[in-house]
Parts: sequence; structure tokens; C-alpha cells
Amino acid sequence: MWKGRFQQETAAAVQWFSESISFDWRLYRFDIQGSIAHASALQKAGLLTPEERRQIESGLKAIEQEIDEDRFQFRTDLEDIHMNIEAALTSRIGAAGAKLHTARSRNDQIALDLRLYLRHETDTIVERVRALQRALVELAGKCRETILPGYTHLQRAQPVLFAHHLLAYVEMLERDRERLLDARKRINRMPLGSGAIAGSTIPLDREYVASLLGFPTVTHNSMDAVSDRDFAAELVFAIALAGVHLSRLSEDLILFASAEFRFIRISDAYSTGSSLMPQKKNPDVCELTRGKSGRFIGNLVALLTTLKGLPMTYNRDLQEDKEAVFDSVDQIKLVLEVYAGMIPEIEVDSQQARAAAADPGLLATDLADYLVLQGVPFRQAHEVIGKLVAYSIEQKRGFADLDLEEYRQFSDKFGPNLFTVLDLDRAIDQRTAIGAPARKNVEAELEAWNATLREQP
Ligand code: ARG
Repeated sequence: MWKGRFQQETAAAVQWFSESISFDWRLYRFDIQGSIAHASALQKAGLLTPEERRQIESGLKAIEQEIDEDRFQFRTDLEDIHMNIEAALTSRIGAAGAKLHTARSRNDQIALDLRLYLRHETDTIVERVRALQRALVELAGKCRETILPGYTHLQRAQPVLFAHHLLAYVEMLERDRERLLDARKRINRMPLGSGAIAGSTIPLDREYVASLLGFPTVTHNSMDAVSDRDFAAELVFAIALAGVHLSRLSEDLILFASAEFRFIRISDAYSTGSSLMPQKKNPDVCELTRGKSGRFIGNLVALLTTLKGLPMTYNRDLQEDKEAVFDSVDQIKLVLEVYAGMIPEIEVDSQQARAAAADPGLLATDLADYLVLQGVPFRQAHEVIGKLVAYSIEQKRGFADLDLEEYRQFSDKFGPNLFTVLDLDRAIDQRTAIGAPARKNVEAELEAWNATLREQP
């Protein structure tokens, strides 16, 4: 492609070193879409006849079909997807093909391809986030009455509804979805026409190209446009954070499925066995997901590090963006898909969860609140209940097993109605502030999520 100036062939090692076709071939559909739009702009500018434009379009479509059907021969010596497709086109249709690259550089071409590709993939990821939200809401609906201990520091803290715990992840995923859609806005700008760095002396109608490719707007600085990868970094960040959320969900599921907790059973279809220990049923899907968060974060760091310190404008370093971006896109799609299948099949053991939540210590704060309502300042109430807890541990008797006389040794504000505080269901239903897990709140949240998920597929 640059034979004019060069007197020596590229060294074989450099061909292997610098090629990107082994991974950027996946952009072919978008490369072709972009080239067809570019050809239309060339025709509009009077640089292609309608017949030449038609030859280009049908030639490119034939190439696309061959790649679709795995019949296309990619050549490493042609470096990347752009040159592979252009060379094949020119060898087939001749002169018209050789005109296609007019007023275009691979620098603005790759920027366009990557944006088209990521716009498309972002839509798929957003859909899959929705599917996982739907799965979590479905499971939450099935265990809307189940109470389990909520944990801080992985120590039993206060009782919550299992549905409330699951809906916490639905909220996280909603923020992920918003971040993805926000990144999409900045992906969705059309860079073609920026040329290698400074546009072209041949003026093409960039807005026309944008409209053909469904972009609402074009980029406004040619130098920025060929070197900007912010849009990719933002997407990779949004994916990394979603990956972190899914890693946390995985950890909860792994713990809850263990013999120590036994709050859930993950279905056999989503578990694996041990090659050595016949009794084992392992939550490998969760563990792999937890592990992949390392990959997502690694890809983000790799991309940002590649971008850091690049002088203006395009530098070949930017070819190193792709594998990190592709990997994050591929992996998050996989994780979301397998999770959306696994979650609805989870069986919740409500009895076991409730038994754990019946640990009387979980209502210690509620007892302090009881004293507060009798006029005791909270700090004082906290101390009283602390001593009561120590006493109950020493006595090896829970709060419900102590009698009023014993309570009154700690504070004369205790009356016989204190025992109503120790009712677990009542304790949940007393938590009525917005965002707290009273049953009527969780019911309302479930209903709101169901409505949202129904309206926005
Ligand atoms: N394969 C290149 C990349 O991914 C395309 C742009 C090449 N541009 C260049 N001037 N060598 O970045």
C-alpha cells in the first residue's frame, strides 16, 4: 500500500510484529459499512460515478458475505482489516476500488470502525444487563417473604429480606446500564473526514456520511478525532465496574451456597464437580466471574496506560487498544448471559435463612431503639444493651429467654411490651423509611422494577 516510497520489503519479523488482522478482522462488517458510506460521499463530491459507487458497494458486500461464510483469505502481509478489504476489492473491481481511499486515512477509518463496533456491542451489553436485572427481580419475587441476616464485616448485623439483598444488585446494574448508555453518547460521534490528522483538501460532506451511518453528530477537531480513544476507555471502565459488581454478587452466592450458610442451592446445570472428590458440587460459574473481574480491571489499566503520554496525534500504539477492548466486550457478554440463566434457577432455603436470622443478637439495635422510644438517650441505650448482650452470652440464653426482671436489672425503662420487639417479622416491618426493607417497601420496589422492566425491554 505504500510501495511508492519504499525500496525494501518489510522484514518478515516486522510483518508478524505489526499485523493486527489476527484480531481486528472482527471489525469487517463495520469497516465495510463505513466504506460504503464513504463511497456515497465520494460520489456526492463528484469523485466517483454512480456506476463506480455501485461497483464498490456490491464488491464490498460480496467480500462481507465471504467473510460471513468463512470463505475469505485474510493476508498477514496486508496488515489489518482495512487493507485486506481494500486490496481484495481493488483486485476484483479494479480502478473504482483504487479510488475508494480518496480523502481517507486508516487513522480516521479505524476510529470510525471502532466507534461503529462499540456502539453495536454497547447495545448488546445493555440488553444483557437488562436480562440479568429481570432474572434477579424474578428470583426476588420468588423469595419475597424470606428473611436472612444482613451482614457488615461479614458478621451478622440486622435482619433483611432476601429480596432486598437481591434488589441491591438490581440497583447496581441499573447504574451500570446508565454508565453504558452515557458512554454510548460519546461513542456515537462520526470521525471520518478527519483524514490522517488534518482532514483533506478534498472536501467531503461529513454530515452526510454521519446521517448514512446513523450518527447524530460529527467530531469537531480532526487531530482529536484520530487520536481520541476516550470513548473506548469509558466503555471499558463501565464494563470493569459492572464486572466488579458481578464479582461481589458471585462472592455472596459462593458463601450462601456453602455448607456454612446453606441459604441457596445453585442448580446442577450451573455447577461443576470435582475430578477427585465425589461429594463436591462447586460454584465454578461464580468463581470464574469473580476471577474475570481481574481481567476487566486489567484491560482498563492496559488501555489507559497505552493512552498515557501519547503525543498528538495518531500513533501506532493505538493499535494496542483493540485486544483489551475486545476482551472486555466478549467477557462481559458471556458473564451476563450465563448469569441471566443461572439466577432464576437458584433455590432459596427460606427456613435455613430464617433460622440464621433468628440469632437474637440481630435485634440488639432494635432493643436499643425501644429504650430510645422510652426516653433514654441513644448512647446510653447502646451501653445498656451492650451489657445485656454480654449477660445473655454468659447465661447462654437469648433475649427472648430472659425475663423482665433480668431486663430491669439493666434499665428500669424496660416494660413487658419489650418482648414484641423480638418478633422478627415485626422487626422487618418496622423498617419503613424509603430504601429500608419493610415488607411493604420491598413489595413496592418489586412492583416498580417489574413495571420498568416491562416498559423498557
Ligand atoms: N491497524 C491500525 C490500528 O489499529 C490502523 C491504523 C493504522 N494507521 C497507520 N498510520 N499505520 O491502529
